[in-house]
Amino acid sequence: MRAEVHINPDQVGFLFDLDGVLVDTARFHFQAWRQLAQELGSDFTEAQNEQLKGVSRKESLEKILNWGGIRLNKQDFEHYMALKNEWYLELVRTLTPSDILPGAEAFLIEARNQGIGIALGSASKNAVLILEQLKIDHLLDAVIDGTQVERSKPHPEVFLKGARALGKEPAHCVVFEDAVAGIEAAKAGGMRSIGIGTDDNLGEADLVRASLAEVNVEEALNIL
Ligand code: BG6
Ligand code: MG
Repeated sequence: MRAEVHINPDQVGFLFDLDGVLVDTARFHFQAWRQLAQELGSDFTEAQNEQLKGVSRKESLEKILNWGGIRLNKQDFEHYMALKNEWYLELVRTLTPSDILPGAEAFLIEARNQGIGIALGSASKNAVLILEQLKIDHLLDAVIDGTQVERSKPHPEVFLKGARALGKEPAHCVVFEDAVAGIEAAKAGGMRSIGIGTDDNLGEADLVRASLAEVNVEEALNIL
């Protein structure tokens, strides 16, 4: 058993991934990428899709092309990335606050009430738009998204920048993630992590729960 270390909540940062943790856009990414793969005469499975979660738009397309043995020139590559984003944004524009995932808003409010710093750590370049549509931007102290990082998860850059923006030590931060790459990024950054999803792919996290409705703030603080 680990010795109990008491850290004041005001020294703690909670870093949240967006797609698949706060909002159910992970299925929109899957839908739009699959449509694109089919447009290119290919396809991929839901299991393969796990490898796209948390990964940048560019790297996602590279993986899909690899799976299908497809090569594109630079211009076509840019065209298909833009096309996927157009299809994805059509779905994103339908989002309303009712699409916030179960328990997410209550969890953010509870963490704030305890004085914990809260940041977004997302690979998405659409994060600000999505937060505005969900009307939860006021619950975050800092937003680090795909427009501010050079290295994709599993590189820890996005979370290290989040911790820095909050003024917290990485070792005092808990990352909430639905992606394998995101759990790896948390580890690489020296942070604890809570996997939102299932044990079969997120088993490397310090704790795994099906949704934020099934975690409480105390429990999250206890993994530090
Ligand atoms: C991550 C998603 O949050 O954002 C990935 O998990 C996605 O699936 C990545 O590729 C980039 O998103 P966007 O919105 O910039 O294409
Ligand atoms: Mg995600």
